Amino acid sequence: MERRALEYLWIHESPRSELVDHDMLRVFDRGEGAWLWDTRGDRYFDLCSSMWQTPLGHGRADIPAAMAEQARNVATAGPIFFTTRGAVELAERLAASAPGDLQHSFLTSSGSEATETAIKLARQYHRMRGDHHRYKFISRYGSYHGAGFGGLAMSGRRHRDSVYYPLMPGGVHVMPPTGVSDLQYAEQIRDTIELEGPETVAAVIGEPVAITEFRIPDETYWPRVREICDEYGVLLIIDETLVGCCRSGRMWGIEHWDVTPDVMVVAKALSGGYAPVAAMIVRQHVFAVFGRDAGSPSVQSYGGHGATAAAAAKAMEIYTEQRMDRVAESLGADLLEMLSGVWEFPIVGDMRRFGLWIGIELVNPATGRSYATGIRGTYQVAKELSRRLLRIGCAAARMSEGILHVAPPYVSTEADLEFVAESVVSVLDEMSDILSQG
Ligand SMILES: Cc1ncc(COP(=O)(O)O)c(C=O)c1O
Repeated sequence: MERRALEYLWIHESPRSELVDHDMLRVFDRGEGAWLWDTRGDRYFDLCSSMWQTPLGHGRADIPAAMAEQARNVATAGPIFFTTRGAVELAERLAASAPGDLQHSFLTSSGSEATETAIKLARQYHRMRGDHHRYKFISRYGSYHGAGFGGLAMSGRRHRDSVYYPLMPGGVHVMPPTGVSDLQYAEQIRDTIELEGPETVAAVIGEPVAITEFRIPDETYWPRVREICDEYGVLLIIDETLVGCCRSGRMWGIEHWDVTPDVMVVAKALSGGYAPVAAMIVRQHVFAVFGRDAGSPSVQSYGGHGATAAAAAKAMEIYTEQRMDRVAESLGADLLEMLSGVWEFPIVGDMRRFGLWIGIELVNPATGRSYATGIRGTYQVAKELSRRLLRIGCAAARMSEGILHVAPPYVSTEADLEFVAESVVSVLDEMSDILSQG
């Protein structure tokens, strides 16, 4: 299988040097709960829920059953004029759980498509209101908002994306918050709006907490960003792709700051990883601008696909009715306690938790300097972490530079979390040797 994969598949992002020379390629054949089995017969813990997609675990019967039922009845119909029961049910559930009056969902197949749609929406919204020059998007360095040219322009990863230049015009960047005295970073957004010209700025986009450097903004940041956006008539787009669907201990990450964005993007875990489906959800006042005669800003053949939406509607039912927000919060607190021993390692500079997501920041033991330089991006320490984790039975996508991310499924058992804690200690032990050598 691995040989055939190497011959015919182009595995995302990983070069041959990682897949072959470092023996990172695995073909997974079976999954159950928080565990995966590969075609070699080995078992791995799904350390970051398959890139934050599978918090409800593998091998479930309920989500596939909901998807199969919809597919048997009618897999898809539309997307122009027509839709299906699955799509309606998903949109209804999203409206019921999203903050404030975020109510109208535009369904897509991926986070990238949802953020591209949000770009088109924001520009069209302003033009329809007679504001013809607002085309810029302010985002944070180090952020990622999708693989399209618009998403890349809003992402702050210049070192990685310059090879694709020119990107969409209008991407403007500011420094991300650090978790301490973040009002100044919110105010940088005001300064940037002023310097760019408020009449040119369409929206501010950000993740509640970004994976790069994994800094959790303090309590002042998002409320102040919201105020600034309101003051300048700029839309606020919150990208919940990673932290949505209970990861943070609340259904939506932005709820921790009690802020309602104008547009919210939800992806990854929306179907529990069982189907490719995402959503851009907009508030009433945004939807109202499109009035009776304007259509949605995009059309995509599989946007709102019935069977994938039915999978997500079922997953949303599970998140809500089984109070997965509380489950994630409580497992996260337990795991943090189990990890308390890692503070002993001189290479551990900090450990931060956001629900059931813990980031362990590594530092140079001699200088104390952090390796978490994700916004500049070298990925040397990150690659080493993934390689060593895989060898001891933890499957995890590439980490961000200098941060060991731990984001296990919400179905993890106590024994699973103990395995995670032991594995993390073991890898930090190995990394201590490597990093002490410089
Ligand atoms: C914050 C954020 N936005 C958007 C995306 C793009 O989503 P997708 O990979 O589903 O296209 C990602 C993917 O990692 C992401 O982390």
